[in-house]
Amino acid sequence: MTQYKIPVIPGDGIGPEIIAEGKKVINTAGERFGFDVEWVEFPHGADHYLETGELISQDTLKELSNYPVIYLGSIGDPRVAPGILEKGILLAARFYFDQYVNLRPIKLLDGVWTPLKDKTPKDIDFTVVRENTEDFYIGIGGKAKKGVSKNLLEVERELYSAKFGLDIETDSDEIAYQIGMISKEGTRRVIKYAFDLAMKRKKHVSSVDKANVLSDIYGFWRHEFKDIASGYPEITTDFNYVDAITMWFVKNPEWFDVVVTPNMFGDIITDLGAMLQGGMGLAPGGNINPEGTSMFEPIHGSAPKYKGQNKVNPIATIWAGSLMLEQLGENDAANAIVAAIEKNILDNKIKTYDMGGTSTTSDVGSDIARIVSSM
Ligand code: IPM
Ligand code: MN
Repeated sequence: MTQYKIPVIPGDGIGPEIIAEGKKVINTAGERFGFDVEWVEFPHGADHYLETGELISQDTLKELSNYPVIYLGSIGDPRVAPGILEKGILLAARFYFDQYVNLRPIKLLDGVWTPLKDKTPKDIDFTVVRENTEDFYIGIGGKAKKGVSKNLLEVERELYSAKFGLDIETDSDEIAYQIGMISKEGTRRVIKYAFDLAMKRKKHVSSVDKANVLSDIYGFWRHEFKDIASGYPEITTDFNYVDAITMWFVKNPEWFDVVVTPNMFGDIITDLGAMLQGGMGLAPGGNINPEGTSMFEPIHGSAPKYKGQNKVNPIATIWAGSLMLEQLGENDAANAIVAAIEKNILDNKIKTYDMGGTSTTSDVGSDIARIVSSM
């Protein structure tokens, strides 16, 4: 029997409740498909931070790097200022393990309600490949006050004035800035991942950018996209400005197969995607380093107001567990879990409040586990 050791970080808010259901389903899948998981619990999150001052240390990250996959609940707590835990734990892990692909399947399962009128599961089935280590997430930014900023702003305005032959007034005494940067290698590897994925699907890749305004950074993205595309003659492509793609997601989701996007736009459009597939309770994600340590989590946050109520939908986390098993090569178990989620939904009895039911988090987890064991 194959033995796996999987680190698990339940995290904050509803994290522990949903992770408990994910583990339950994976344990059952192991019994059914012949593998055994030893879970190694890590305490990182708000409580641990407030008690010890540790977000996640270099030593812990180093220890975690011995494993191919990590299972993560959710990070974020109202007792800690926004950004501290998210950047100090979640983004720290994404960057430390160089998880350059954020894989977010947007798939409407049979029986799930979508806010898009007239669209069915055959229309909503694409995957977003979000770049996960660059762009505006690199953490370079700051603020400057008074004299300095005035000068900076004047320089900026002069550049614009010179470029466009305009005379633009300057009047400000404080600035804030954040630098977005993408590298050639970082851009190429994620786009290549998207093309390789499309080869196994419907052979279409859509690029997202804002090359009409942020032309330095996303003109570069487009250039690299075209160069990679030339190596895949059997794949069709299209280019989308990020504002426009939000329209097409809503109007014509059936156009999409694999969508590859810079980090920040990917963050935004996958919340929209999650809604198309029935809501945040149903949207899984994987932070993937194909050669290193990958980390699987629901897209949703820690929903502190529901903490401890055994109320929220565990499906996104269970589905993320399926992506994790796929990464480990346990394809039969991974497929069985998604099929069991679909069956639970089609049975239409045991469902949480967000899907119009009254069942608990653990009821839904147990039902999906029961279905997996009968497959
Ligand atoms: C996500 C989240 C994170 C992100 C936050 C919590 C740092 O919104 O996984 O989409 O912006 O990537
Ligand atoms: Mn997000």
